[in-house]
Amino acid sequence: MEAAENEGPGQALAVVILAAGLGTRMKSKTAKVLHRICGRPMISWVSGAAQAVSPQRFLVVLAPDLADAVHQVLPQNTEAVLQAQQLGTGDALRATAAALEWFAGDLLVMNGDAPLITAAALQGLLNAHRQALPACTMLTVEAGDPSGYGRICRDADGRVARIVEERDANLAEKNICEINAGVYIFNAGALWPALEQLETGNSQGEFYLTDVVEILASDGQAVLAHEIDDPAVVLGVNSRKDLAAAERVMQRRILDRHMIEGVTVRDPSCTYVEADVKIGRDTLLEPMTMLAGNTQIGEDCVIGPAARVADSVIDDGVTLVASYVLGAKIASGCSVGPFAYLRPGARLLQAAKVGTFVEIKNSVVGEAAKVPHLSYIGDAEIGSRTNIGAGNITANYDGLSKFRTVVGSGVHTGADTVFVAPVAVGDGAMTGAGSVITGDVPAEALGIARAKQKNIEGYAREKFASREEKD
Ligand code: UD1
Ligand code: MG
Repeated sequence: MEAAENEGPGQALAVVILAAGLGTRMKSKTAKVLHRICGRPMISWVSGAAQAVSPQRFLVVLAPDLADAVHQVLPQNTEAVLQAQQLGTGDALRATAAALEWFAGDLLVMNGDAPLITAAALQGLLNAHRQALPACTMLTVEAGDPSGYGRICRDADGRVARIVEERDANLAEKNICEINAGVYIFNAGALWPALEQLETGNSQGEFYLTDVVEILASDGQAVLAHEIDDPAVVLGVNSRKDLAAAERVMQRRILDRHMIEGVTVRDPSCTYVEADVKIGRDTLLEPMTMLAGNTQIGEDCVIGPAARVADSVIDDGVTLVASYVLGAKIASGCSVGPFAYLRPGARLLQAAKVGTFVEIKNSVVGEAAKVPHLSYIGDAEIGSRTNIGAGNITANYDGLSKFRTVVGSGVHTGADTVFVAPVAVGDGAMTGAGSVITGDVPAEALGIARAKQKNIEGYAREKFASREEKD
């Protein structure tokens, strides 16, 4: 391959993310880099950090059978490159040779399985590289537990000599704690000839990108290590255990950001907030609260304990205890739970109350209306200040289609009312307890639909008398 011409070294920057690995250790049908960390695919965290250093080119190496799925979550300016066979990280970078043939400048190469990498760490690496202009600058860190990572071997003068993978390391090398983060900046002109020289004489029979370091160093070219302090930033995810470790670090970063912005998190060790969630000031998150997806929470709310909210909008001053809220909208001053289930299309208007063992789906609960106990409200409109009695059910489904129930304002429904939809109840009306309402109830009327009670005199006395005789 022709080496790229190097005009004005250090000017242009191309990013290459290696994401074609099989992820065998994950034991998963899903591509490793699509496993989620705090609600985002791993690769999105990596690409987000990389985009922040403003590269002119942005390439991601993908495996052919998983390429489409991964490509979908990548930014628009991504150039996808296929690695036909997964022959190692060195081979993965080689796959970009044709696309980068005319690229002269710096190549920031990074593993796609290290989601905790930050834009600040990448910028620091780039600055270090651009000061010294060596053939390669790589990110390293002193790890408390280096197991699983490539170790940095230095010569007697402390210069980087090579990287040895754990599987190929001898005992002395295994004791080295300085590890390879899998993030490198190469001078394009120096890289391509060195990549050509890779061989597979290692325990995995792969082309290791890490061997480029030894090839460059033994050729007398400068290889620098840019060491950072925090090992968490470079954590590589190879197994489900690593995935959980990465999630924990990322979760703490997200919570710290919200706390800095004025949210109280009573116990960060058991509070879970995904990346895109927004939370207003003076809101309190109680333990076992999980906020997911595209969720927005206003100011002065109390969320939890034990609440899960996903893809929902909650306005200011809402109290939400021990409940599930999915795809719902809750206006200011509402009170929800304990043990409520708000499903997609549930809309609570200002100061509404939804209480215990209540399920609401695709329905509007009007201003200051109350559904306090044991009810199912589906495909319904409940007017303002209406009080729904305990155990009310909207029978919205006849096995074929869904029908709507419309209850006006200021209505008072009796306990155990069943609304057989389609049905409407006018403003200011009432229903009798235990009624099965199959027809509309006019405004201000009482709808009552139940068998009349009859009493059988002496029946119980006789029954109990015969029981006593038996004793
Ligand atoms: C790699 C490094 C190791 C470093 C560690 C940091 C090598 C040989 N080793 O080890 O020194 O400490 O990362 O986390 O590079 N990939 C491909 N095609 C392939 C193989 C891998 O695109 O054929 C991609 C993977 O999707 C992954 C990245 O390269 O994103 C790293 O591969 P992985 O197998 O995870 O390497 P590690 O064993 O973690
Ligand atoms: Mg890895």
